[in-house]
Amino acid sequence: MTVEVFPTEAAVAESLARRLADEIVERGTTTLGLPTGRTPLLLYEALVRISRADRVDWTRVRTFNVDEFEGLGSGDATSYRRFMDEHLFSKVSIDPANVGFLDGRAPDLGAECARYERAIADAGGLDRLVLGIGANGHIAFNEPADGLHADTHVATLELTSRAANAWWFGGELHRVPPRALTIGLATVLGARAISVIATGESKADAVRAACQRTVTTRCPASFLQLHADVTVLVDQPVADLLDGPGGVSRR
Ligand code: GLP
Repeated sequence: MTVEVFPTEAAVAESLARRLADEIVERGTTTLGLPTGRTPLLLYEALVRISRADRVDWTRVRTFNVDEFEGLGSGDATSYRRFMDEHLFSKVSIDPANVGFLDGRAPDLGAECARYERAIADAGGLDRLVLGIGANGHIAFNEPADGLHADTHVATLELTSRAANAWWFGGELHRVPPRALTIGLATVLGARAISVIATGESKADAVRAACQRTVTTRCPASFLQLHADVTVLVDQPVADLLDGPGGVSRR
């Protein structure tokens, strides 16, 4: 696991956006796993700017988002699908047919999860998975628990995770669904390369726990240590709190 430290949140976003844009240009055909949340807002802004400036061709890019709320889908203003449409998909040349998404409104959520597993496998897996990290150490919506799910599943959200998402629901916690569909740890670890973005001091504890050479289901992000190609991009406020005993190795 490599930790890369940047002076600001904007510098984190710029660096990862540049890497993603370069990989799209170099490979042409590539499959990305993508997150939502407040952290990737600047990333998508930078990616759109670079894509427009450099005329990056997204037509052979496939994407799979990592999670979606139960009961919400593309028609809902507070769905993660809508978040992605608004912040990225409507602003680059991606073919809507190449956008993979969990449908939180599917009548049979178990079948929907199985469909998503198959769709990712049929696409040949994820070339690069971009993840945020929850303050409780969750990745996608794999919450701390006694056991973690390998496959795509329906997850019950911790209150803190719902609270962290309330901003997307007009600040109204009661509107944040209690459950979500999410890819599991096998899909995460099956990605060929993983980039984690963690900015702001509220993420420091989770990053420290994720990098401590102990793998625990109490910090799902710690499983990333089992993967050979993971980069954690942090800003200075996170880096400052990582120093000291049990600190992390930096690039
Ligand atoms: C959210 C999402 C995750 C995201 C994480 C961090 O609830 N389910 O995919 O990476 O929690 O979110 P944020 O960037 O808003 O802190």
